[in-house]
Amino acid sequence: MEDVLILAIESSCDETAAAVVKNGREVLSNVISSQIALHTLYGGVVPEIASRKHIEKINQVITEALDQARVSLSDITAIGVTYGPGLVGALLVGVAEAKAISYAAGIPLVGVHHIEGHICANYIENKELEPPFLCLVVSGGHTHLVRVADYRTYEILGRTRDDAAGEAFDKVARAIGLGYPGGPKIDKLAREGNPEAIVFPRAKLSDGEYDFSFSGLKSAVLNYLNGCHMKGEPVCEADVAASFQRAVIDVLVEHAIHGAKAFRMDQLAIAGGVASNSSLRAAMEEACRREGIRFYHPSPIFCTDNAAMIGVAAYYEYMAGTRSGLDLNAVPNLKLGER
Ligand code: KG4
Ligand code: ZN
Repeated sequence: MEDVLILAIESSCDETAAAVVKNGREVLSNVISSQIALHTLYGGVVPEIASRKHIEKINQVITEALDQARVSLSDITAIGVTYGPGLVGALLVGVAEAKAISYAAGIPLVGVHHIEGHICANYIENKELEPPFLCLVVSGGHTHLVRVADYRTYEILGRTRDDAAGEAFDKVARAIGLGYPGGPKIDKLAREGNPEAIVFPRAKLSDGEYDFSFSGLKSAVLNYLNGCHMKGEPVCEADVAASFQRAVIDVLVEHAIHGAKAFRMDQLAIAGGVASNSSLRAAMEEACRREGIRFYHPSPIFCTDNAAMIGVAAYYEYMAGTRSGLDLNAVPNLKLGER
């Protein structure tokens, strides 16, 4: 059978990315132009700036992805592009670019769901992983516990009612003066702190056993910091970071293991930017070992936004016959499992 080469494009938030993926699981190139340094100036992603930067970078990023993979457009079987969810102006840049190339070069177009991409990142380095499995998706915008029944069949068991896990990391990081993006900085600082120094709440929802809530935890951290400030007591930032992180991880691990057991899943994966958190990986690994569940995670570079994961998801869509028309549009609040 002829090789299926996907040129993938991702521009849903603050990374302009392109990749070439061969036969669904082999990454020939993975080029990411991050805007993080730019947005750090403002303490978070500024949508207008993100769109403008995507426009400036996208052609260069695609050319580099093709060059690094040593292929040209004539070798490409299909173009995969993220069309939602995400920032509408940012998504539109990738979608318009993908449509233009598809039209000009006569290459089929496949619209991809960003979260499906995150989940599919697990297939890149775990060649033996196949559905069914349970996947905990923890990113800056999403916290979902998903049952991956088949390559294209996703069932959301639980989701966050308020802040996403990554959002909580970013907000707490800002409160203790670490800056944006907070996740990696809390991850690092927490290694020097005591996770049992401060007891922060672990939210339990009476309705929705797999749902998450992180806004109460975030408020508890802010109240703690405020209390110290009022009493003139010093704050040990490392202890706050470690104790906050432990509270988030406890809930994530508990829900994921509970779901895996309830649905008799012997494989559990994690995905999204927060999945690169070293303590979360260690805690999941340990809990899975205890329960006899196989644990999978992508390398950090495939956890945060990238186009290789979009290429993998596009491959499975392409093989199933999915083709998007030139009327493909950005859908900022696209739901998982909808097509
Ligand atoms: O998946 P992603 O790149 O973008 C979205 O689709 O949202 O996730 C970005 C999020 C940010 O909130 C960032 O702080 C968080 O992932 N993150 C981390 C770590 N690395 C990135 N959170 C905790 N620990 C990390 N090491
Ligand atoms: Zn993402």
